Amino acid sequence: MTTRFLVCATALFLQAASAKPFGYAPLTERQDVCESVHVFIARGSTEPYPGRQSALVDAICEGISSCGYEDVIYPATFENYCSSAGTGVSNGTAQIKAYSVACPDSKLVLTGYSQGAHVMGDILGGGGGPFADCAQEETEGFSPDEAPGNQIIATFFGDVRHVGNQTYNTGTGASANGIYPRTDEQMASLNKFSGQLRTWCFAEDPVCALGSDPAMHVAYFDEFTDEAAAWVKSQL
Ligand SMILES: *[C@@H]1O[C@H](CO)[C@@H](O)[C@H](O)[C@H]1NC(C)=O
Ligand SMILES: *[C@@H]1O[C@H](CO)[C@@H](O)[C@H](O)[C@H]1NC(C)=O
Repeated sequence: MTTRFLVCATALFLQAASAKPFGYAPLTERQDVCESVHVFIARGSTEPYPGRQSALVDAICEGISSCGYEDVIYPATFENYCSSAGTGVSNGTAQIKAYSVACPDSKLVLTGYSQGAHVMGDILGGGGGPFADCAQEETEGFSPDEAPGNQIIATFFGDVRHVGNQTYNTGTGASANGIYPRTDEQMASLNKFSGQLRTWCFAEDPVCALGSDPAMHVAYFDEFTDEAAAWVKSQL
């Protein structure tokens, strides 16, 4: 009991300590340097910026001198989930397009975890639909044949909109659907990126596979950071 309390308290403290103040400098300032590899992070619900995926960024950037990341700026709340994710889609799309225009030779890695995977999948393949509390606006995805789509590599973890049995699915939950599976039309669009996309899902994860062990939803970056980084590097 005491140990458990301490573990929780420590986890909360570490989370708070890693939540660096974030001033939302204008895009032109945040994107003033072109890196050869630039990662966009869409964090999971309630994570402080940059969240668990920062471990993945470190692993991807290891050994690459010109490499960095920016956060997709969006609420990532459970409350008003639908408008939160919708803001992630519109804000993230604008950030990615702006960077691509300024830096047409960069490789762009889109990584999304949990609600952030919902956001990144919608950005890439098009989104929209009724979710918990609203009807999210329909949006078009990118084309793999032109910028920014032809600069992109993407990794998703514990995707809220996971659809089973796709070629790029990996993990024990690969055959399962998540809470809000993408529509056939959205999948047809997302799957134009099947060669540049990989998505990880545990069968026990309640979010991407309707499993029953919430602990598995937060286990991705202990288990797959190195594997995912190696895959990204193989695509660069
Ligand atoms: C969308 O992004 C802009 C800056 O790029 C930020 O100022 C704004 O707060 C973001 N919207 C939300 C709801 O987070
Ligand atoms: C994926 O394929 C397996 C094996 O055919 C099947 O049991 C499962 O229901 C499929 N998943 C979905 C979400 O259709």
